[in-house]
Amino acid sequence: MTRLDREQVMKRIGILTAGGDTPALNATIHGAVTRANAHGIEVLGIMKGFDGVLDPRMPHVHLNPLFSTIPELDPCQGGTILGASRTYIDPEHTEVLKVVAGRFRQLNIDGLVCIGGDGTLNGMQPLTDVFPCVLAPKTIDNDLGLNYLDEPNQWAREEQSDSDEPKYRRLPGREKVVLDEIINYATPGYSTAVSVAASGIERIRTTAESHRRIAIIEVMGRQSGYIALGSAYGQPDIILIPEIPLQYAKFEQRVRELYELQKHVVVVVGEGVTDEEGSVLGDKTASHDPAGNIVFSGAAEHLRHSLAESLGDEFFERDGRHESASRAVFTRKVGHTQRGGRPIQFDRFQAAQLGGKAVDLLIQGHNNSVTILQWSSEKGFYVDALPANKLRDQWQRIHPREVHASLFDEHRFQPSKLGVAYLLPLFTNAIGQDDAEHMRATLFSPGKLSTRYQSTNIDMQKRTRYL
Ligand code: F6P
Repeated sequence: MTRLDREQVMKRIGILTAGGDTPALNATIHGAVTRANAHGIEVLGIMKGFDGVLDPRMPHVHLNPLFSTIPELDPCQGGTILGASRTYIDPEHTEVLKVVAGRFRQLNIDGLVCIGGDGTLNGMQPLTDVFPCVLAPKTIDNDLGLNYLDEPNQWAREEQSDSDEPKYRRLPGREKVVLDEIINYATPGYSTAVSVAASGIERIRTTAESHRRIAIIEVMGRQSGYIALGSAYGQPDIILIPEIPLQYAKFEQRVRELYELQKHVVVVVGEGVTDEEGSVLGDKTASHDPAGNIVFSGAAEHLRHSLAESLGDEFFERDGRHESASRAVFTRKVGHTQRGGRPIQFDRFQAAQLGGKAVDLLIQGHNNSVTILQWSSEKGFYVDALPANKLRDQWQRIHPREVHASLFDEHRFQPSKLGVAYLLPLFTNAIGQDDAEHMRATLFSPGKLSTRYQSTNIDMQKRTRYL
């Protein structure tokens, strides 16, 4: 069958944002709506991700009446005007799937664009059996993608007792990544999250430096250390990523050396860092979120206690460096500031391209495909597409992409040469002049003191329609 034979007549499509938000979601929606306008396709935004799909009234908003984009959709605004949730459809619930497909038919929706990460791709999978769906990627964690195409084949599955989920073990793979071959080089949201983390680290540095303290800064990313890797732009002294189990003695030795030298140390820790036995540092709540992701907390606090104990008060009291170990070592989580706010130019631009490409895929008759951002030394960044199954292992599981060992120098606790080469194309021109100007012009705008924040939720609520 030729591509033309397969081309679908798309008159109206749906779009939703699922999973944790990122700063570039509105930019992706904007890219999709702009492309749909050009093709004369109507776009209905489904509210609150799969929550909205499962709601019998399927709350939705017409995003392009008369093929012009509604003013609430601003690609520079963080978050998502459609709202997001971590709800997913259980693939076992075939009846629910049929009902959902019926709701789409009732609304005359011919195809669906889901904007999300690995959880969303899993959530979208059962729907693809009953309805054309494509994914436009997003996640600040940068973990949707592959270091190389055959990576999903390098997993072993270990069955557990009846009640426990099987465990997956990564088998030895390629020694080095080739940057041109990375699948989905970076996801929208990642560069903005890194920009927030890096500037936070720079700020914490000067206070740690003044007060002779050891700062431990925790960044997000679950079991993937990309945000920690990118935080190298904040010039932390030590970076700990979840992919490299912590060798505590080596780490402590490095902290001592640096403190002796510069009287303060800045450490960045990815929230999913493990000890040598593979246990996540600090508290790991027993619960999972609705997408099945483990909820991490406390890696930095765990390190703080360990350092305060192993360095001891005596280390700080010497030469009057600091009053006590527990006061000298402090932690900060960059937290949700990484996920929120205005996306930087790189994210906005690429997110919009990926959203537009998703609409093209639906028009071209694709189903269960993902738009991806590729990079090559010759072409720079360009968008492409991949069948979603290429991201799955033989048991249909999508594993979060991890920072490949060749991108990190575990002896220096810093990105390796190749890691630096990976970061450069992403970040060198990532911030636009308008980003800097935006802050200058708006942060202390006098009008803010006399007007309340105007939430787009109020305007979107007025536009929401129900089945
Ligand atoms: O996956 C994105 C992410 O921000 C992770 O980095 C983090 O662990 C998690 O979501 C936090 O989720 P929540 O906002 O639901 O606490």
